[in-house]
Amino acid sequence: MADKDGDKIEKNYYADVPFKTNGNFHVKGAANLDWGMKKHLTNIFNPKSGNTVMFAFDHGYFMGSVSGLERLDILIPQLIDHVDVLMATRGALRTCVKPNFRKGIALRVSAGSSMVNEDLSREIVSVDIEDAIRMNADCMAVQVFIGARGQLLSINNLSKVINAGSGYSIPTLGVIAVGKNMERTSQYFKLATRIAAELGANIVKTYYCDDFEDIAAACPVPIVVAGGKKLPEKDALEMAYKSIQGGARGLDMGRNIFQSHNPVIMADAIGKIVHNKYTDKEAWEYYSDKIKSNK
Ligand code: 5RP
Repeated sequence: MADKDGDKIEKNYYADVPFKTNGNFHVKGAANLDWGMKKHLTNIFNPKSGNTVMFAFDHGYFMGSVSGLERLDILIPQLIDHVDVLMATRGALRTCVKPNFRKGIALRVSAGSSMVNEDLSREIVSVDIEDAIRMNADCMAVQVFIGARGQLLSINNLSKVINAGSGYSIPTLGVIAVGKNMERTSQYFKLATRIAAELGANIVKTYYCDDFEDIAAACPVPIVVAGGKKLPEKDALEMAYKSIQGGARGLDMGRNIFQSHNPVIMADAIGKIVHNKYTDKEAWEYYSDKIKSNK
């Protein structure tokens, strides 16, 4: 049994050593999965770059009509061609997104707390596997609250979705959440991302933080980075660049796209970093030039 006081020896994450057991499949940790799982993961992660730009607009499941998402029916059609994956609730997709697009779907399947409830960590699995199949989900997104009061509940939710998804070859995305009274430390994210992967999540979403390259190296499945609260566009592009440089296989941004001055141009600028090896400075220049010519 592991020492309850934690490891005594110095850790080495070999952050500069590529993942060893991937064979010739482009998604980390998926080499031994079946055809269906691999097809869904390929709908998410571009085989050329190995990366993804997820556009997250599932905030309404606990935040209601967040600024920038007041009219999904107007916003989403503008952005579909500029991202790889839509991360959304089934309600938003069925009501506001026509099914005539050819992009990945990260379906939000957990729900429960709302902003009026101080403990956001108590959720349930709200979407069953049958409806995830009907929605043609390429992965099912479940909030994971390690360290919060709802920790065990969220681990149970994650495990139930992984079990159901495994039966129908639909991957699970573990969304690392940070409870109100918790800190966004690299130690916390290292623990939470690894727990989610060890429990069987096929993709893990977390936030960028110090020592990110160690967190990415220690996680045996791809990490996508959430944008978090709205930043100045230049800072958001720097965070995107540092995430990719640190080993993330994509960004899953919401507010830093839909609350930016120009969501379409911002999504394209992020895509330049994620798929075309742009630096943050090059992406900022791209964004600024496009904004100027757009006036
Ligand atoms: C909301 C989520 C969002 O999908 C995730 O946080 C990405 O959105 P943002 O970039 O706005 O943080 O999980 O619960």
